[in-house]
Amino acid sequence: MNDALRMLQRAAPVMPVAHFNSLEHAQACAELFAEAKVPTVEVTLRHPQAWQMVKIFKDCMPFAKIGVGTVINRRQMLRAADEADFVISPGFSAELSILARKTLTPYIPGIATASELMAAMNEEHRVFKCFPAAAIGGVALIKSLSAPFPEVSFCPTGGISQANYHDYLALDSVACVGGSWIVPSEEALKKDREGFLTMLKDLYSS
Ligand code: 3PG
Repeated sequence: MNDALRMLQRAAPVMPVAHFNSLEHAQACAELFAEAKVPTVEVTLRHPQAWQMVKIFKDCMPFAKIGVGTVINRRQMLRAADEADFVISPGFSAELSILARKTLTPYIPGIATASELMAAMNEEHRVFKCFPAAAIGGVALIKSLSAPFPEVSFCPTGGISQANYHDYLALDSVACVGGSWIVPSEEALKKDREGFLTMLKDLYSS
């Protein structure tokens, strides 16, 4: 649990949640993030070449912690335990939690309800992705959950943007937010790589 919390604190204020269209797109983003010294990245398993994308980030950003996201089954958890620094799931499964514990893998499960939180807390988790944050109630939901569960920390993701991420970070229970908005598309990289670099440097230098 402490390892998972350290990952979130290190990621602050924003953990990029990255999906890429191609290996070239992943490579270009990894180089951009390396230049901006982004400390922590979640690379999602949402592309047939996703594991190669994880390797690109590991190779390009040796100073950073690279997590694998969208881990939803045993096979992915076992591979991620070997190939990544931490693992994130969109939901909670006791089976995956037990596997993460056995393999000593820092693991951040996802929750959307108080019942899921209780189930995950029974497996000793105290650090959660809250997903899909905006769609299930956003800041108001996290505030409400923090009342009965004051000891837990969240990384809300899903529908968070440049316009509203500060509202989440203002909550004591939020260690960082996750989002894809700070991961440029291939078109955006071509058009305004320098603009993205400046935005990232501003985010992670403070
Ligand atoms: C996630 O996987 O956490 C979300 O899909 C990221 O959501 P976003 O694209 O709305 O930032």
